[in-house]
Amino acid sequence: MNPLIHYHVDAELALIGLARPPVNALGQPLRAALLEACEQAQADPAVRAIVLYGANGLFSAGADISEFGTQASCAAPDLPGLLQRLTSMDKPLVAALGKLALGGGLELALACGYRIGEPGTRVGLPEINLGLLPGAGGTQRLPRLIGARQALDLILAGTPVNSETALRLGILDRVAKHADALLDEACAFARELLGDRAAARPDVPYPDPAGGLPDDFFEHFLEANAPRWKSRLAPRLVLDALQAACRWPLTEGLAHEQVLFKQAEDSRQSAALRHVFFAEREAAKVPWIEADLPLRPICKVAVIGAGTMGGGIAMNFANAGIPVILLERQQDALDRGIAQINRNYANSVKRGKLAPEQLEQRTTLISGTLDYADLRDVDLVIEAVFEKLEIKQEVFRTLDEVCKPGAILATNTSSLDVDRIAAVTSRPHDVIGLHFFSPANVMRLLEVVNGRQTAADVLATTLKLGRTIGKLPVVSGVCFGFIGNRMLEPYAREAHRLVLEGASPAQVDNVLTGLDLNMGVLSMLDLAGIDVNFLVRDANRTAINHDDSYCRLGDELYALGRYGQKTGRGFYLYDDRERQEDYEVIALAERLAGELHIPRRPIDAQEIHDRCLFMLINEGIQLLDEGIALRASDIDLVWINGYGFPAHLGGPMHYAEQLGLDKVLRGIEHYRQTLGAYGEMWFQPAPLLARLVAAGKTRIERF
Ligand code: CAA
Repeated sequence: MNPLIHYHVDAELALIGLARPPVNALGQPLRAALLEACEQAQADPAVRAIVLYGANGLFSAGADISEFGTQASCAAPDLPGLLQRLTSMDKPLVAALGKLALGGGLELALACGYRIGEPGTRVGLPEINLGLLPGAGGTQRLPRLIGARQALDLILAGTPVNSETALRLGILDRVAKHADALLDEACAFARELLGDRAAARPDVPYPDPAGGLPDDFFEHFLEANAPRWKSRLAPRLVLDALQAACRWPLTEGLAHEQVLFKQAEDSRQSAALRHVFFAEREAAKVPWIEADLPLRPICKVAVIGAGTMGGGIAMNFANAGIPVILLERQQDALDRGIAQINRNYANSVKRGKLAPEQLEQRTTLISGTLDYADLRDVDLVIEAVFEKLEIKQEVFRTLDEVCKPGAILATNTSSLDVDRIAAVTSRPHDVIGLHFFSPANVMRLLEVVNGRQTAADVLATTLKLGRTIGKLPVVSGVCFGFIGNRMLEPYAREAHRLVLEGASPAQVDNVLTGLDLNMGVLSMLDLAGIDVNFLVRDANRTAINHDDSYCRLGDELYALGRYGQKTGRGFYLYDDRERQEDYEVIALAERLAGELHIPRRPIDAQEIHDRCLFMLINEGIQLLDEGIALRASDIDLVWINGYGFPAHLGGPMHYAEQLGLDKVLRGIEHYRQTLGAYGEMWFQPAPLLARLVAAGKTRIERF
């Protein structure tokens, strides 16, 4: 028998185990082996029922994602064909779902007549996260099993449910007592079926999956969700497939699902989301760190500063069950910080996102102190005080005195030089940057800033810890703004300058939101605070190397007290959160343009797109060349998870590859020539971009 399959006949049952570690992805070799095993069981008169299980304890994570977009994806036997064959067998098939059955893995289970899980098995159809729809019968068989409405919700959410919910929904017939008993109970189930002379497949509970739904349900559903879906294709295809399940017989529905799946697989959006899937796994790997490097134990954490940022950071650890001490200088500031944390948790309870007993557990894990001496036994300290080098250095001098040897000393700076902070301690190898994004208890991105002297085990420990607290850690080297904020600088610069040249703020932002970014850059500055942006810029004037022209607009808004949303005025006027164009800002831009001798003219959407995006991309490529980012895909993750870049565009680097690197280079050169002295100064192609294009490369890589 094929090594990808364990095959064993035991008193009328064929036990077929999937054995393709790590996750039994249903690539072509496993599909072929599975088909062969099932045919053997079907042909064997000694076999009366079949039990399908995961030989390594886990059932299957679905289709092999690395096959999509290649010939292997539909190489015989393709998954839909294989599953169709299983449904035509006349012996009962019982799927024993250990740990997880996702995507094609669940579809494989749905092609079996019967399903049993174990406590905690995760069951779901996460294809939507890859810009796909379930393409092996899931959109047709699931609605017939649990009804169209429930199936639609499960497929669109893309998040797995646990075995208890799956049982309640009717996806599972049974749940084994515990994981070790799964296979035995699956065999007992199969024998019961034989004893009862049960059909190979029971009748479906929902032959009319739309039963009870209004006739115009799908039209209304689309109308209600289209604004949230923006230009995403996959949810629309899911809806189309579900409609087919409700209107057509199974065979026609399955054929239609195939057409829709192919459309999704061939789409740029799915290619981008598959890129993001692998990028997230790649980001955990650091070339110079061995997988078996011993990590430092982190059992207790301290956070310095109980402001919004410090409090949010502390919540992450409490949420993961790690005790955390918040340190402040004044009792009232500490009390305010802890009260805010309690309010945040209480709100989560109100919204049903947290059980009251979880609130209790979490708040007891957070304690406060005014005394640095209480930090002497912590394993990790994260400093989140005011963003000023001297203040942070002072904190680190104290930490160096009080913390135990081997404690990791981290700074949450968003732009300061981590090496200069490390330099004031006697242990720079223990110092690292952990840049959380605001709100820190919500945002997934964590830039892990590796200082010049940071020890490998400090980097490896914080990367692992970042994942433990539910973040997506991405390694950055030390430079002004690290990966994210350094790229923000040229991107925001173009937005400011375009307003001076004649575009309105809304015109600039609408081009960016038209691309599905969560927010335009000027709205983002209004949200973050024009004052915050001004103070960072002011503290770093030499690093930014700014010229007067584009900064003048931000400087004047700051001088006018237009700090953004919090003052009700910034680039826009705000009525609550509703934004309006403000003619005062346009008049200000006109006046400044006159003073700076910047000619004003109508500016079209293409120019706004190219100037903002190409400058963003160019800076990213430069960061890669400098070694600040380890790989282009890390940059994509930073912008998707920290700055609202749409995942279905794959991040700015992937987007550049899709546009064509030569096109990006030509665009930059065009503006270098047409924007006078400003163009000469700022539109300088990154040398790596020029080298890649000259070498005919289409992927962004260090070269
Ligand atoms: N195909 C190919 N490789 C996969 C895979 C898949 N479906 N699922 C996981 N892997 C790989 C990962 O890339 C990773 O590889 P490396 O070690 O080389 O980096 C390895 O398996 C382990 O994965 P994780 O690091 O993610 O491990 P985890 O324990 O944190 O998570 C998991 C495991 C929950 C299965 C997670 O990997 C996951 O969510 N996988 C994707 C599941 C999915 O989306 N399935 C649907 C596929 S599309 C489909 O099935 C279409 C269809 O309808 C036919």
